[in-house]
Amino acid sequence: MSVRFDFTNMLRPACHGGLPADSLVTAAAAFAGAVADVKARRAAGTLGFPLLPDDAAVRAALKVDALASRDEIDDVVLCGIGGSALGPNMLRSALCPPRWNELDRKARGGWPRLHVMDNVDPVSMGALLDRVNLKRARVLVISKSGGTAETMSQYLVVRAMLEQLGAEWPKTVLRFITDPEKGVLRAIARTDGIVTYDIPPSVGGRFSVLTPVGLAPAAFIGIDIDALCAGAAAMRTRCENESLAKNPAGVFAVLQHGHDQVNGRSIHVLMPYADALRDVANWFVQLWAESLGKVLPGGGNVGPTPLPALGTTDQHAQVQNFMEGPHDKTVTFIAVEQLGRDITIPSLHANYPDLAYLGGNTIGDLLDAERRATAGALASSGRPNGVLQIPCVDAAHVGELIMLFEFATAFAGALYGINAYDQPGVELGKQFTYGIFGRPGFEADRARFDQLAQPDPACNV
Ligand code: PA5
Repeated sequence: MSVRFDFTNMLRPACHGGLPADSLVTAAAAFAGAVADVKARRAAGTLGFPLLPDDAAVRAALKVDALASRDEIDDVVLCGIGGSALGPNMLRSALCPPRWNELDRKARGGWPRLHVMDNVDPVSMGALLDRVNLKRARVLVISKSGGTAETMSQYLVVRAMLEQLGAEWPKTVLRFITDPEKGVLRAIARTDGIVTYDIPPSVGGRFSVLTPVGLAPAAFIGIDIDALCAGAAAMRTRCENESLAKNPAGVFAVLQHGHDQVNGRSIHVLMPYADALRDVANWFVQLWAESLGKVLPGGGNVGPTPLPALGTTDQHAQVQNFMEGPHDKTVTFIAVEQLGRDITIPSLHANYPDLAYLGGNTIGDLLDAERRATAGALASSGRPNGVLQIPCVDAAHVGELIMLFEFATAFAGALYGINAYDQPGVELGKQFTYGIFGRPGFEADRARFDQLAQPDPACNV
């Protein structure tokens, strides 16, 4: 059983706000163009993510390192941000038991905790570093560019702490994951002899979860990275199918793009009905937003806005807006067929019918009924929605989901007519930051920043 995409409610007549029922037929030529774009990039060697599941050698090396480290460590600390943090976070929350870092060693099967630093908030960073014993840790410094200010700052803080422990500790504790040639991290690794794993140059940060970016932290906490990649490889085969109706990533991309461009539905909600998949939505947000929000080559701006949600929690927060707010959204649910555990709701208070109806059902039944009810309610109000059905949350099926979303993003980039693999829009903010910090070479950026409007007391209440 593999991941399926049920798009009934994305189309008319199931949903009167849906796209025409023959949308896949009319999109066939555009999809063929998207397939050609992806093929051309793969042939040119610039689009590397589809090949990642085939790299058994890197997985073997990571497993050796993880196993050799396992009994020596209690914690893995990950320095990284953006694509270097969201993927690892997603893998831990989907594929480790809930509240992994709160479990004792036995309940973790002997594997260490995993802490993903991500943001540069000194309060959370300080709290983490106060309690981790770095002599019993591995610190994974993950940066494709090897120069991101946040990640490098995290690294410098940890490196200073390691040096205080003694000259041998940086080499023992640190692992770098970066470009094979470029960047400061690579240079330091060469000088200091630090164990380093490569991020292939043809794989951008947000597409990198199946490189050592995601596989190293996953291996260090005992996730079955072979099964993860086997699932991804199986989905790759389906996403290489040139017949749109048989290609789940193609259908997802074509329908989201169509709703955005034809129906003005530019907000794309991803709403898993499983806590384990909450971070899949957060990972998808970066993939969809940073890949597709772009200036068109001939001018003009495109790009859907992804929005993460969680069922049922967001039925009590965002669904009112999805139902009655502007007609500017599609909703994609993720439904898990076998949650792996269930709890029967006790039959108590028989004299209170408003409560007694729950008894004898399970918590899982309730979760699923609420998802189906919400989908039906949205469809009957003309609000398009689809459902990704995942048989269970295990490594193989999460690998499938990852590959499906990555291919969908690649196809959508081609449909929008933009380059889905760069992120020029984040550069100016970075240059201003470097200017403010006095980084050599960024004096003009500092001067430009200083020319910007200053806070106006008249605009401060
Ligand atoms: O997708 C991307 O390329 C970015 O979001 C990066 O992941 C993020 O900026 C971190 O970059 P790096 O891995 O170079 O430190």
